[in-house]
Amino acid sequence: MQDVNRKFWQRILGIPQTGMPTDPGCWTMEDGKVVINLARAPELKEAGGALRLEGPPLPGRYLVVKGADGSYHAFENRCTHLGHRRLDPLPGGEGVQCCSVNKSTYNLSGEKLKGPAPRDVKSFPVSVEGEKLVVHVS
Ligand code: FES
Repeated sequence: MQDVNRKFWQRILGIPQTGMPTDPGCWTMEDGKVVINLARAPELKEAGGALRLEGPPLPGRYLVVKGADGSYHAFENRCTHLGHRRLDPLPGGEGVQCCSVNKSTYNLSGEKLKGPAPRDVKSFPVSVEGEKLVVHVS
């Protein structure tokens, strides 16, 4: 399993690889669900791609990943280690990794694989309805 390619200073500062969506209008919040229009989210076309969602009206920070298994996975974008840094997808979409120096790593179910994080990261159920990816965050 290959680490996310980050420079040491980026890990010190906790700067994640995954940026905000190129199309800020690619998602909406509807009835406690995040609804992503996949046609407007090129970040999720390939395995290992990810979309970082945060800010109002969202109740938390989320990372949505297209996994190596071809499925979509959604996580609370908050490492469970004390720095609570953001996560990035592992190369190829095998899991997710904290952007900090300690690189806590989780599988696609959110289970901790390595690093100092004390517990699994929270994941959320997702469903695909045509071109819509629905993340059930509540
Ligand atoms: S905050 Fe993630 S490993 Fe420390």
